[in-house]
Amino acid sequence: MNTLVLYYSFTGNTRLLAEGIAAGVDADICELRNVKQVPKGGMSKIFWAGREVFMNKFPEIEDVDIDFDEYDVIFIGTPVWAFTYAPPFNTFFKRNKFDNKKMAFFCCHGGRKGKIFDKIKEVLSGNIILGCVDFVEPCRNDSQKCVEGSVEWAKEMLDSST
Ligand SMILES: Cc1cc2nc3c(=O)[nH]c(=O)nc-3n(C[C@H](O)[C@H](O)[C@H](O)COP(=O)(O)O)c2cc1C
Repeated sequence: MNTLVLYYSFTGNTRLLAEGIAAGVDADICELRNVKQVPKGGMSKIFWAGREVFMNKFPEIEDVDIDFDEYDVIFIGTPVWAFTYAPPFNTFFKRNKFDNKKMAFFCCHGGRKGKIFDKIKEVLSGNIILGCVDFVEPCRNDSQKCVEGSVEWAKEMLDSST
């Protein structure tokens, strides 16, 4: 089965799980990246991200050179920003339309995921959402267990897709 893990990560939590899932289920992996350089410093980085949420709903992202038709299942991973997926996915979903595609969704957050699952189901309506899962700050909370949990979940998703 051809599987892709597509993710965005600002501070590494979603990346940790995306890389774990890709290795665990032998999937290709692709990271969405901002075109504009993100500040590196602690506070300026957080200030930049907050501004992105409220002022820049459709940030420029690097082109993704992928033929999504080649994949049987696509995993999508994002941090929760203001109770929904991070703005680079606004741009991505505007550019890329999916139909009748098997997809599964994972996110990382600080404890308040809001209605992100409803929002992802809405933006991906017309597709087959195999399942959704969330993790609280995996880089800080038992990383190993989170990675193992995400891989187990991903395997269940793939099993359910056949
Ligand atoms: C701009 C911004 C907005 C955020 N909004 C939320 C939120 O609404 N709810 C929440 O629980 N965590 C929120 N967080 C925390 C992140 O979702 C959390 O730290 C996540 O693990 C980050 O994933 P990443 O390391 O892959 O970027 C926010 C973080 C940032 C920078």
